[in-house]
Amino acid sequence: AEYETILVETRGRVGWITLNRPEALNALNTQTMRDVVAAASAFDLDPEIGAIVLTGSERAFAAGADIKEMESKNGLEMLMGDHFGGWAQFAAVRTPVIAAVSGYALGGGCELAMMCDVILAADNAKFGQPEINLGVIPGMGGSQRLIRAVGYYKAAELILTGRMMDAAEAERSGLVSRVVPAADLLDEAGKTAEAIASKSLPALYAAKATLDAAMEVPLAEGLRLERHVFASLFDTADQKEGMAAFREKRSPDFQGR
Ligand code: HXC
Repeated sequence: AEYETILVETRGRVGWITLNRPEALNALNTQTMRDVVAAASAFDLDPEIGAIVLTGSERAFAAGADIKEMESKNGLEMLMGDHFGGWAQFAAVRTPVIAAVSGYALGGGCELAMMCDVILAADNAKFGQPEINLGVIPGMGGSQRLIRAVGYYKAAELILTGRMMDAAEAERSGLVSRVVPAADLLDEAGKTAEAIASKSLPALYAAKATLDAAMEVPLAEGLRLERHVFASLFDTADQKEGMAAFREKRSPDFQGR
């Protein structure tokens, strides 16, 4: 497939998506959304892919939704147009996605990182929801996912002031999985993705589905889901292989079924 705003590459069992609009610090316009959704969906349907890395440039993961594209729209156009809906498809990808964040992850950029399952941050990363400075509010999940990630008071302060936080504060707050030196970001993201991609694909899907549910449903419902999804994995060849490998003191050879 041909993409206008991203670079796409497969390395082993890992699919790489690199946001590539350097002239706009990877601001997310409609085309970027379509490209990312199409690339991620294609990886998601490929049984040879066990993890996806989403990254940007050294200077910016993404500096937000494209302000120049949005500026002249009215409310109805924002609601009815195909500007943001596609991102829900990205968030619904079954394959684990790792955001590798260097530089700015602001507004929609921060929200896009929060649609991923793991957030690795370079030590130069800056996170924020600066929409309030533009006279609007987060619109791609920030008001909901940021609270779940960092708690009410940290999220409220960030959203109401629009200030940025650095990688260390983001890690302390629970927004990022891990901070690494900027020079090592892509290596570390690759290693993490390969580690994930070496596991059983049905188990990865199951883990992601239950993690996602934990963000949304009451505890009793989440526990019920977990019990059933956990049990269903005992009908996979990979569960038999994983447990036999443990007993035989060797590494498992997962088949993805
Ligand atoms: C469009 C953007 C952009 C954006 C940067 N650019 N961010 N274009 N949309 N979100 C463009 C600039 O206009 C400029 O192009 C080029 O990228 C480089 O940016 P500079 O501002 O010159 O760089 P710098 O001085 O280093 O400042 C970096 C920055 C600043 C602090 C990240 O660019 C900035 O504040 N950007 C906007 C951040 C923001 O408000 N994001 C939230 C967007 S709203 P030109 O050609 O002009 O030189 C949002 C809503 C999400 O995300 C929900 C939607 C429903």
